[in-house]
Amino acid sequence: MIILRQLILMGPSRMSDHSSSTLNLGVCDYPEHVSANDWRMHAKKQKSIGLSFVRLAEFSWAKIEPIEGTYQWQWLDEAIEIYQQEGLNVVLGTPTATPPAWLIQKYPEILPVDENNQVKKFGSRRHYDHASELYRDECARIVTLMAKRYASHSAVIGWQTDNELGHEGTGMSFGGASAERFPSWLKEKYKSLQALNQAWGCEFWSQTYTDWTQITPPNLTAVRQANPSQVLDYKRFCSAMIEEFQQRQIDILRTYSPAEFITHNFVIFSAESDLYRLAENLDFVAWDSYPIGMLEFFATWESEQTKTDFARTGHPDLVSFNHDLYRGLKNGRDFWVMEQQCGHANWAQYNPLPAKGAVQLWTAQAWAHGASAVVYFRWRACHMAQEIMHSGLLRQDGTEDRGFKEAADFCSEEFKLATINNKIAVLHDYESLWIYDQQAHNQDLSYWHQFMLFYSVLRECGVDVDVIHPRQLKDKQYDLVVAPALTLMSEEIADQLLALPSETELVLGPRTAFRNESGLVAQTGQFEKIEALVGAKMLNFDSLRPTISQLIEGQGERQHEARLWCESYQVDTAKSVLRYKEGPLDQQSAVISKGNTTTIGALSKSLIKAVINEKLSRKNIEYFDDLPTGVRISRRGEQTLLTNFSSHPIEWRGHLLPAVSYKHF
Ligand code: GAL
Repeated sequence: MIILRQLILMGPSRMSDHSSSTLNLGVCDYPEHVSANDWRMHAKKQKSIGLSFVRLAEFSWAKIEPIEGTYQWQWLDEAIEIYQQEGLNVVLGTPTATPPAWLIQKYPEILPVDENNQVKKFGSRRHYDHASELYRDECARIVTLMAKRYASHSAVIGWQTDNELGHEGTGMSFGGASAERFPSWLKEKYKSLQALNQAWGCEFWSQTYTDWTQITPPNLTAVRQANPSQVLDYKRFCSAMIEEFQQRQIDILRTYSPAEFITHNFVIFSAESDLYRLAENLDFVAWDSYPIGMLEFFATWESEQTKTDFARTGHPDLVSFNHDLYRGLKNGRDFWVMEQQCGHANWAQYNPLPAKGAVQLWTAQAWAHGASAVVYFRWRACHMAQEIMHSGLLRQDGTEDRGFKEAADFCSEEFKLATINNKIAVLHDYESLWIYDQQAHNQDLSYWHQFMLFYSVLRECGVDVDVIHPRQLKDKQYDLVVAPALTLMSEEIADQLLALPSETELVLGPRTAFRNESGLVAQTGQFEKIEALVGAKMLNFDSLRPTISQLIEGQGERQHEARLWCESYQVDTAKSVLRYKEGPLDQQSAVISKGNTTTIGALSKSLIKAVINEKLSRKNIEYFDDLPTGVRISRRGEQTLLTNFSSHPIEWRGHLLPAVSYKHF
């Protein structure tokens, strides 16, 4: 058994050794939802299709402790025993995403408060305020008991903390413990009210505070939006509360279960907390991939037709971006997909059946972007409550559903784990996201939308990228660094950019460095902290209605058309590369460059592509300009994966790709 455990990722030291490992497959199982008579049959079947582990128990607090202080561990003991006898390992979730009814009745103050100051009630999940010390103590109690009980069990290989921290709008509470703690958190940060008033620009609209106790969470302000600098700090605060909440559990698990790994399952396009910080003390990260529901994250400028074309597979870039993001959280370390859609989901606006082949396609794609395990969600569809409409590998009646055969036929042994070594970095920062989205200045724009425009251009060129935080630039040298939307320019980020080796090519997107750490605009000019790199000042920005566009002169006859956002620059030491044509920005600079740094002021896919292509050529990085829509190429070590997410067969450069398929070589 020990040997088997070692084959599955265990401790951090073993996780970087991929030499003899291949992709692992598992499944999320809920023995508490079915008759105990089915447990062995289920485990046998799981093993027979090549699954090597199950994830269990992340919502089972009320089953484990039905009455305060009365514990029922037998069902879980027995279930784990059966999985082990049938050759499966176990990942246990701490059950803290679902405090039981008795606990809420006893301590209603742990419930979170919404933006309208309404207390959110018991009856679904994630009903707690991360800042509540009372709740943290309760969690510590149940996690300690669980860790002590199962740490030495040879089937238990690791832990998942809670479930999707902050997801489903639960990252922020606007009352209770959070509201109480916020002023003291601020006091610790700013030391004096004068510093806080200055950082938040409280001179505006007489917002000046004269006592720490006057400060509340930024909700229900009388008119308009709350002060963006206050919101930025509230996001930071709530993120810190989630971090503290999780850390308490990590400390307990490390104490009582030191040999097992600790991970957490993050979500798609998460924006609730600074995941770089949340990931810091985990052994590796995991995320939950539901490609079809993810389609709704498409920017508004993508046509409805694109969503239709990818309705049954999801869009390859939306999915691979999340893989790249989560691989980047821990400097390129392999990650897990802790929940992989394997049939229709239930929570998106539309929940069609996946195309035939999609489950295998998603599994292979996850591997290509650095996953070392893919865990299907879920084993058997649930016959009760909120997720009745969700599918599993088995139907509610226990028969095999569409995804079952695809999972069973997937040859995971062919997918060797290897380190991914990319030459291109795309920079991402949660603080920029938080401030950008508060004053997007165009209802069709958001940080993720702008970010994904650049990411998609790179993926359409067939190049592989790392998504990293700027502070990770010091750990590795890249040929090309792209910063699509680094709106918030802290000293730390500026230092990283300024320290880039002179041979590194850098591309900056619109709104770069528009704000300082507090979310204010630098009065000495947009690029103040990175003036040496950019060599220009911003002149104007223009937020376009979706029905109008702005032309940009291209090289020769070529013209580019920008949508939603354009900004123009006054060059100083930089040179103007392309100019706007007609309209209010006529003849002002749209693209400027200084040394190896190019700054793009307009959201135009063809323009971004032209700049990126030139940079790739300069660095001799191979790229393609004929990759068909829906086809993507990804490399892992010496291996390559070609994927076709479209619903028709495609031939590209001698490779024949049937509809919804992949080719691995
Ligand atoms: C995930 C969640 C699971 C389940 C699933 C349904 O976000 O972690 O518990 O709700 O969605 O798709």
